[in-house]
Amino acid sequence: MAIGFFDKTIAGSIGLIPKPIIRRVASRYVAGETIEEAIEEAERLNADGYRVTMDLLGEAISTMAEADAITATYIQILDTIQAHGIDSNISVKPTAVGLASSPVDLERNVRLLALHAAASGNFVRVDMEASPTTDDTIAVVRRLREAGHDNLGWVFQATLHRTRADLEALAAVGPNLRLCKGVYLEPEAIAWQSYDDINASYVDLLRYLLPRRDHFVGIATHDDPMADAAEAIISELGLTPDQYEFQVLLGVRPELRERLRDAGHKVRVYVPYGRAWHAYCVRRLEENPKFAGFVTRDVLRNPGMLLGDQSKR
Ligand code: FDA
Repeated sequence: MAIGFFDKTIAGSIGLIPKPIIRRVASRYVAGETIEEAIEEAERLNADGYRVTMDLLGEAISTMAEADAITATYIQILDTIQAHGIDSNISVKPTAVGLASSPVDLERNVRLLALHAAASGNFVRVDMEASPTTDDTIAVVRRLREAGHDNLGWVFQATLHRTRADLEALAAVGPNLRLCKGVYLEPEAIAWQSYDDINASYVDLLRYLLPRRDHFVGIATHDDPMADAAEAIISELGLTPDQYEFQVLLGVRPELRERLRDAGHKVRVYVPYGRAWHAYCVRRLEENPKFAGFVTRDVLRNPGMLLGDQSKR
C-alpha cells in the first residue's frame, strides 16, 4: 500500500491542527496523563479479558537526569501494577531510559527495571526505535539476558532487511520478542518499502519464529492478512497460548482484538499514557504519513470523537 497524496498532505499539515483536536484524537490512543488513568484503562482491559503493557510517553530525552527520572517513574508504575493486581508488564523506549546518552546508561537503567520487575514476577519489553539505535538496543538486552535477566525482551521490525539474521544470531539466547512491521521510515538500502514486501517479510519471520518452541512471540499487528497468516501457522503447528500472544495498540481496530480474543488467543493491549501525549501524537503523525491517514480516516468515520465521545471502543 503506497503512501498516498491524502496521507502526505495530512502529515504535512499536523502543525496546523489545533491542540484540542489533537487531544480528542489522542484520547482514543492514549489512556490519559496520569498513572491513575492508565491503571483504570488497564483494569477495564483486564476485565474484558486482555493483558496490558504500559508505556510512559516521553521521547526525545536529552539529559541523563531525564532518563533517570523516567526510569524511576517506571519503577513506580511496576509497584502500582503490583499493588492493583493488574495483568500488565511495561514497555520502555531505549532512548527514554538512557540510550540517548550511551549504551552503558541504557544497560544500567534497564538492569534496574529488570531487577525491580523480577521481584514481582513482572516483565520488561524494550521497544525498538529507528535503525541507528538497533545495534545498541539488541546488544544491551542480549548482555542482560545472558547475565540472567530473562524477564527482558526485544522488539524486531519486519521492515528491516537485517531482522532474520539478527533473530538467527540470538536463537541460543531463547528470545522473548515482539514482532512488528516497524513504524519508522527507513531508507531503501536497509528496509523494505512496499506493503507487499513488508508483509512478505513479516510472514517469513513468523514462519521462522513460531515453530521455535523455546521462543515466545508477541505478534504485534492490526493488519488482517498478518493476523490471518499467524492464526494459520499457529493452528498448523498446534501451538498453545503460552507460546505466543497477539499484541495491539490501544484504540486501533478494537474489533480485531475482540475477534482474536474470542477465538481463544491471548491478546495484549499496548497502553500509552503521560503528559507527553501531544508530542507523541504529533511525532507519530509527522514520522509516518500513513499513520496520519489512519487517524484522519478514523475521525471522519467517527466524528463523535471530536464532539466529546472519547470511547476507545
Ligand atoms: P499496517 O500498517 O498495514 O496497518 C494495518 C491496518 O491497521 C491499517 O490499514 C489501519 O486500518 C490500522 N492501523 C495500523 N496502525 C494504526 C494506527 N497507529 N492508528 C490507526 N490505525 C492503524 N513499531 C516499532 O517500530 N517499534 C516498536 O517497538 C513497536 N511496538 C509496537 C507494539 C505494539 C503492541 C504494536 C501493535 C505495534 C508496535 N509498533 C512498533 C508499530 C508497528 O510497527 C506498526 O507501525 C503498526 O502496528 C502498524 O502496522 P500493522 O501491522 O498494524 O499494519
